[in-house]
Amino acid sequence: AENMLWGGRFTQGLDPLMEQYNCSLPYDRLFYAQDIAGSIAFARANATTGILTPEEFSTIEKGLLQVKEEWANNSFVVQQNDEDIHTANERRLSEIVGKEIGGKLHTGRSRNEQIATDMRLWLRDELKKIEGWLGELVKCAVQRAEAEIDVLMPGYTHLQKAQPVRWSHWLLSHATAFSFELERLREVIKRVNRSPLGCGALAGNPFKIDRVAMAKELGFDGLLYNSMNAVADRDFVFETLQWGSSFMLKISRWAEDLIIYSSLEFGFVRLADAYSTGSSLMPQKKNADSLELLRGKSGRAFGHMAGLYCTIKGLPTTYNKDLQESVEPLIDHIKTLGDSIQIATGVLSTLTINEEKMLAALAPEMLATEFADYLVRKGVPFREGHHISGRVVALAESEGVPMDKLSLEQLKGIDARLGDDILECLNYERAVELKAATGGTSKSAVREQIEVLGKMLQGK
Ligand code: ARG
Repeated sequence: AENMLWGGRFTQGLDPLMEQYNCSLPYDRLFYAQDIAGSIAFARANATTGILTPEEFSTIEKGLLQVKEEWANNSFVVQQNDEDIHTANERRLSEIVGKEIGGKLHTGRSRNEQIATDMRLWLRDELKKIEGWLGELVKCAVQRAEAEIDVLMPGYTHLQKAQPVRWSHWLLSHATAFSFELERLREVIKRVNRSPLGCGALAGNPFKIDRVAMAKELGFDGLLYNSMNAVADRDFVFETLQWGSSFMLKISRWAEDLIIYSSLEFGFVRLADAYSTGSSLMPQKKNADSLELLRGKSGRAFGHMAGLYCTIKGLPTTYNKDLQESVEPLIDHIKTLGDSIQIATGVLSTLTINEEKMLAALAPEMLATEFADYLVRKGVPFREGHHISGRVVALAESEGVPMDKLSLEQLKGIDARLGDDILECLNYERAVELKAATGGTSKSAVREQIEVLGKMLQGK
């Protein structure tokens, strides 16, 4: 079949499988509105310089709006030669307005700048949605942290009971990580939202096209200043994949915590039915599938990132068809990210906590450090205090009792500096409240974190 775009030089049609192999329309049709907006801006700019007459421009604009309408109401009829969204739109435009005028739209333009423009426009809008959803997730964690500030739980290192902390402190530890992702995302959006339009195939536009005017019309924040870079570059895709991978890494660890905490053995949290599923075989099961998918989908995100690095790393400068392979991973990645963030917010806003289970999981040994700190306050060097406290733990172990069941006499027998007031150390709330320096788990320090995150959410 004759190909309308570059048919002049080619005499034979494509091998049918090659045609399919080459065709990106099944996925880049997602950008139909962006492609048409870009074409209208391009035509308008060409009308300003006299490449198109005002009448030709308005015919083209009307025609393009009709094409857009056809996509929107699902009446666009795809044809075999529609290689990609650019080809399809131009073919249809020419059918509507005639080849004489339709054939003028592409003057000085290349699909290389078109695809880069379409992807950036689409991605910018998607990332802004994601920015909103991510803000909601952080806000949700902050609100829970405020409401449940009194609840204590074991803090873990190496998944071993370490020191008591506030549940809010755990919530905010992840919210803080998410807030850094929010900052990163805001940076990424700035660089995504630059215009490649008017850069041609690689060398630039020969008709003095007003790139600034086109960028303004399309809502870009600025231009890409090197035409070869503008068509060769997929940094905006890389940055998005890197950003998303970084976020998925964080949400995966968050999910892992909650999977553990929702197990029967821990029982700290219970997921809402809306985010759990049952087993087809075992009636008693309630599985945290939402969290497992968050953890699982992170692998998919990393895979897209690594895959695209491999695709691009050996390409000679400017456009090569390999770049088309950046489209599908990007679309899939954005879907994964958008869904994951909303699912995480859904899980977090609907789960219930079991304070008693959290309290019951606290063990007196988690206060061993308090004994050492107690001795420090009496002037004992920390290393020595640590040693003495270690002997207390060892004695409790050999006696087969929890540390708080040792008698005052037994304690004093270990070291005379363990005075009558040592028993005050056996208090979880006290241990938590002592961590009052900024960043700690005391109520005041947690409130400070809530304030910092609140400001961050407002973009301050
Ligand atoms: N469908 C192509 C892509 O996604 C558009 C650019 C094609 N340019 C070309 N010179 N063949 O990259």
